[in-house]
Amino acid sequence: MILVTGATGTVGRALVGHLTALGAPVRAATRRPDRARLPGGVDVVGADLGEPDSLAAALRGVRKVFLLSDGPDIPRHDANLAAAAARAGAEAVVKLSSGRAADPDADDPVARWHRAGEQAVQDSGLAWTFLRPMGFMSNTLAWAGTIRAARTVRAPFAAGRVSVIDPADIAAVAARALTEPGHDGRAHLLTGPQALTPGEMTTILADVLGTPLAFTEIPPHAARRALLDHGLRPETADAVMALRAASLEPFAATITPAVQQLTGRAATPFRAWAERHREQFTEEPGGEPGGEPGAEPGAEPGRG
Ligand SMILES: NC(=O)c1ccc[n+]([C@@H]2O[C@H](COP(=O)([O-])OP(=O)(O)OC[C@H]3O[C@@H](n4cnc5c(N)ncnc54)[C@H](OP(=O)(O)O)[C@@H]3O)[C@@H](O)[C@H]2O)c1
Repeated sequence: MILVTGATGTVGRALVGHLTALGAPVRAATRRPDRARLPGGVDVVGADLGEPDSLAAALRGVRKVFLLSDGPDIPRHDANLAAAAARAGAEAVVKLSSGRAADPDADDPVARWHRAGEQAVQDSGLAWTFLRPMGFMSNTLAWAGTIRAARTVRAPFAAGRVSVIDPADIAAVAARALTEPGHDGRAHLLTGPQALTPGEMTTILADVLGTPLAFTEIPPHAARRALLDHGLRPETADAVMALRAASLEPFAATITPAVQQLTGRAATPFRAWAERHREQFTEEPGGEPGGEPGAEPGAEPGRG
């Protein structure tokens, strides 16, 4: 049995799809099983990474775990999961980490949170694999509101260049790591095939959507204010802004062949991702849970 945490999120939902297609037995963890809308045949369980008792039940009979945690709770949640998995007799954890953890010069909160989480997994004594992706292409869904309302994208750090990745490619790599031998003790830096600025992504989106789009650079303090206005806690807003600033550093533009090597398929270009998600930029969100949730308010391709 494979336990997928974060199963209702962007990467986790795609991973559940891959694993069920492979015929692997899957248990999906969510805090709200009633709203999970996962495929039939998936064993959906209620679990909270902040509540170790709920993890013990979710881990019963599990051999491998996909660990997805987020935000300032990453170190504590990863430690909870790793300890519970070791107690339950699991064999291996595949953790969704961040490309920031791979940058030796990175000292921003997300890099620190994920490094602490990785350490907790290693300390558990379980076999481990770390997936360290660059910014998700799906973060651009945070632009959908101003694209619909004003045919405009507003973002800070216009010169920042990130080798953005399709979350579905991360899920494909995770499915391999959970079902094939040879991944233990390996950390994979996962990137898309091109490093793009927000302006270049805006140009591609305009082409895909068939409408002119303006790109306006906004100052970092205005971007941070927008995050706070969307309800992010100051600690989280500061972490997101540090990620965005990191898009100006050369490491953010690193391109690796990992997706191709690990899945046998070339990494998805941003244009292909945008074509698959065209409707999410043009149609008002329906408020349904699930689907590809895209991004937290104001998220940016510099995240992660
Ligand atoms: N966005 C980026 O550019 C980027 C880049 C690199 C790395 N990353 C990393 O990717 C991860 C986020 O992945 P994602 O975008 O796929 O996630 P997401 O779509 O934001 O979904 C978050 C998932 O976490 C679950 N969750 C939240 N709190 C939980 C808790 N206390 N206990 C159990 N489950 C909980 C949610 O499930 P329920 O609500 O159903 O419980 C949901 O399935 C983070 O670790 C982030 O650092 C992101």
